Amino acid sequence: MTIQTALIIGVGPDEGLGATLCRRFAAQGLHVVVAGRTAEKVEHVAAGIRAAGGQATGLVADATEEAAMVDLVARAEAIGPLALAIYNAGNNMNGDFLTMEAAFFERCWRIACFGGFLFSREVLRCMAARGAGTLIFTGASASMRGKPFFAPFTAAKAGLRALAQSLAREFGPKGVHVGHVVIDGGIHGEKVITGVPEFAKRLGPDGLIGLEGLADIYQMLHNQPRNAWSHEIDVRTHREVF
Ligand SMILES: NC(=O)c1ccc[n+]([C@@H]2O[C@H](COP(=O)([O-])OP(=O)(O)OC[C@H]3O[C@@H](n4cnc5c(N)ncnc54)[C@H](OP(=O)(O)O)[C@@H]3O)[C@@H](O)[C@H]2O)c1
Repeated sequence: MTIQTALIIGVGPDEGLGATLCRRFAAQGLHVVVAGRTAEKVEHVAAGIRAAGGQATGLVADATEEAAMVDLVARAEAIGPLALAIYNAGNNMNGDFLTMEAAFFERCWRIACFGGFLFSREVLRCMAARGAGTLIFTGASASMRGKPFFAPFTAAKAGLRALAQSLAREFGPKGVHVGHVVIDGGIHGEKVITGVPEFAKRLGPDGLIGLEGLADIYQMLHNQPRNAWSHEIDVRTHREVF
């Protein structure tokens, strides 16, 4: 039987969303291509999956580079047809607007939006030809609304959401399920716990969104039958005011 692959770009620490999604879909029997910018991180996640009896390959790729995305998708497809692809690369760049350098704004957009275009174009070239597959984008509160000091991130995430919507409407009728997950709040993972420890401590585990609960949502989206697809799902803790 042909092995099917799941390609996840934007994988970092073990206790992060990218890594959690990799483990979840490996447990579902897919060969997971673990992709990210840092070799040690992707190798560590892939090795952990293999040690647990799953199938995984770690590949280093920068989502903002066109040649890297073309090569990444080709290498994933060479392992097996892509059943699932997730664009999880993101950042949370913020700063004072009046002193903001143009390059800062552009860097944020390249990671959180433009990379989504490069990745999805390559993925959809494969999936649309087969008339099957799931493509999911990771969003944030910023996908839905702007906030002081977050203009670049908001512009980028809103753009990614608009891209996802356009693709859902264009490629749904061609058999590809396109989803967008709005993560409305901080994630209980390494980025927040070590990056902003005071914030994490103040909210506690119950005030941050759980990784396994998030993985449930991505898995549910991927496993939906084609006569009952969701495009967008938002998720937050019970304490979030929205
Ligand atoms: N963390 C939160 O609280 C939170 C809240 C709402 C939404 N989100 C969204 O959730 C997603 C995952 O975020 P996370 O913070 O939990 O991180 P994560 O999934 O643990 O890791 C994401 C990884 O993406 C990698 N990455 C960044 N830019 C990349 C690029 N250009 N090419 C390839 N890989 C790249 C980074 O790798 P390196 O570490 O190697 O640079 C980073 O570690 C993002 O889209 C983010 O916007 C996060």
